[in-house]
Amino acid sequence: MTEAILLVGGKGTRLRPLTVNTPKPMVPAAGVPFLTHQLARARAAGVTHVVLATSYLAEVFEPHFGDGSDLGLDLEYVTEDEPLGTGGAIRNVASRLRSGPDEPVLIFNGDILTGLDIRALVSTHTDTGADVSLHLTRVEDPRAYGLVPTDSTGRVTAFLEKPQTPEEIVTDQINAGAYVFRRALIDSIPAGRPVSVERETFPGLLAEGAHLQGMVDSTYWLDLGTPQAFVRGSADLVLGRAPSPAVPGRCGDRLVLPTARVAPDAKLTGGTVVGEDAVIGEGARVTGSTVLSGAVIEAGAVVTDSMIGAGARVGARSVLTGAVIGDGASVGADNELRAGVRVWCNTTLPDGCVRFSSDM
Ligand code: GTP
Repeated sequence: MTEAILLVGGKGTRLRPLTVNTPKPMVPAAGVPFLTHQLARARAAGVTHVVLATSYLAEVFEPHFGDGSDLGLDLEYVTEDEPLGTGGAIRNVASRLRSGPDEPVLIFNGDILTGLDIRALVSTHTDTGADVSLHLTRVEDPRAYGLVPTDSTGRVTAFLEKPQTPEEIVTDQINAGAYVFRRALIDSIPAGRPVSVERETFPGLLAEGAHLQGMVDSTYWLDLGTPQAFVRGSADLVLGRAPSPAVPGRCGDRLVLPTARVAPDAKLTGGTVVGEDAVIGEGARVTGSTVLSGAVIEAGAVVTDSMIGAGARVGARSVLTGAVIGDGASVGADNELRAGVRVWCNTTLPDGCVRFSSDM
């Protein structure tokens, strides 16, 4: 049976302050640590043995997932002494793999939400006899990504850095962060130093004449690297747009965990999640947002497309749109926070200190 490596050791800098206390894969999405969805999807595709490559805040994974038996998995943890990058992390767990040299090993980035047909990626790999197979997805605007053009048989022809000019946009296919490696190639990555699989391993293998196969699967795909994307992904899981066997039950277009308290006239819509022991006050309206455990949204607040950290507070009548509130932070009453605003963990914004006038 196929085994998998999950890369979960990144610092998640783009997701700060959500990743100050919690590594990105452990930030809750649709009520459970995001990693739960990936593990459940891997299990559903027939994976039974998973090695987690950890680094940043490594100590939080094992207490939560243990030996993986709750998910029907055999889970192992390997922690880097120093961050080794994506390729170095893969090499660093090689001794825990059980596959033979020519057998396929799945590798997943720990921050991608996707409906990828995992079995199809493995079949593509074995059917084409590739050394490495990559899930590719198509994006409307590829400028922010490395491009991966393929020939008519799906074989990768190049790895191109982020394109700067229209002429450089030769394809809309990008690396979607899921791979199958022939096991022997994992052993060939240099050990004991940082390696980027995207910038060093893949271009190097291509230059050596290795067979890298691309599989375009244009199902749901979202990189949860930014707060806006993370909130969107969580809402899409609740709304059923993104598939996962691990969403803990939903009611219409919201998910309220059992110990949360929601005022009868509060309105929760658009895939909103209310975490354990969180409180939503009278008349509050929360849309497309994630309210983590123990957070409080006071009466009359309007929260849209925002992430409210664990134990944070949003004061009465405050209006938040596309904002991120760190764990334990407190936003006073009558504030107005707009897209991109990040309030750091445990900071306090006094009542009425941030307002936007409509005629500004
Ligand atoms: P940013 O800092 O916001 O770019 O996020 P990130 O640290 O997660 O980096 P990136 O999104 O490029 O990482 C892609 C995947 O590789 C994520 O699942 C990371 O957890 C993982 N990753 C990145 N660097 C390392 C590393 O040094 N060690 C391990 N074990 N995993 C890593």
